[in-house]
Amino acid sequence: MKHFLDINQTAPADLRDIIDGAAAMKAERLGRPRGAPDDDQPLKDHMVALIFEKPSTRTRVSFDVGVRQMGGQTLVLSGADMQLGHGETIADTARVLSRYVDLIMIRTFEEATLLEMAEYASVPVINGLTNRTHPCQIMADIMTFEEHNGPIKGKKVVWSGDGNNVFASFAHAAKSFDFDLVFTGPPTLDPEAALSGLYTTERDPDKAVTGADLVVTDTWVSMHDPQSARERRHNQLRAYQVNDALMAKAKPDALFMHCLPAHRDDEVTSSVMDGPRSVIFDEAENRLHAQKSIMRWCLGK
Ligand code: CP
Ligand code: NVA
Repeated sequence: MKHFLDINQTAPADLRDIIDGAAAMKAERLGRPRGAPDDDQPLKDHMVALIFEKPSTRTRVSFDVGVRQMGGQTLVLSGADMQLGHGETIADTARVLSRYVDLIMIRTFEEATLLEMAEYASVPVINGLTNRTHPCQIMADIMTFEEHNGPIKGKKVVWSGDGNNVFASFAHAAKSFDFDLVFTGPPTLDPEAALSGLYTTERDPDKAVTGADLVVTDTWVSMHDPQSARERRHNQLRAYQVNDALMAKAKPDALFMHCLPAHRDDEVTSSVMDGPRSVIFDEAENRLHAQKSIMRWCLGK
């Protein structure tokens, strides 16, 4: 069974094939209306369940559109509306869904939920974000970097802000795709210990960003963080805002990325988001292409 659970759970050669496949599929349908079918219909007669226990715009729409472009059908399910939200076990849910659908994508809170779904499902399971990781996002980000600035191997990527779930998938990718990753943020919001060895830390954001090929940030308060922590986190992270002064320390052709949704003028200024180095909407578009390639890989198509 080929689940797509995390970047560090997938062989680097497969990750490379997925990115290359995504780029080829993107090129093939250039200029077509979004609703037009792909020439290949690898998901013909396939039903895909998309389960959301947290809000989503990009993941929801890009998976749904991607399945349809490849000839499949989708069921978009809210965890709260399923028996899953009312006491049915994840294992039973996985076994039941496997009788109806060919592929499951789940966005959830605890990583344990994703892993239990994968253990008991008899169809492939894709991680659409957990509190710990967001691998589909980083596959789109690698694709986006390479589209603009060529191979990411050996490049310097700097993450400024919270050491969160999106950072964790960047850390996994740093090893698989062989780039240097620098974390700059306050010690109170360091990445989890399990990631040590995959990145280096530089507390001074100006020093960290010097010579960067890519600068990345994300929201200061993730969906799983308590709202009561909002003010404290903002106070701790303010010095790590990505603004024009910080971007000026990076290489002249450095890119800026953010998985979105962004909080304009908190973690990043509008001038950077809307500026010439920002590739945030390419990242969003590439979620579609990268995930289509991930689904093909999962299904062996
Ligand atoms: N980047 C991302 O996963 O966005 P959504 O929360 O809108 O799906
Ligand atoms: N770190 C953010 C990413 C959202 C796509 C969160 O988990 O809320």
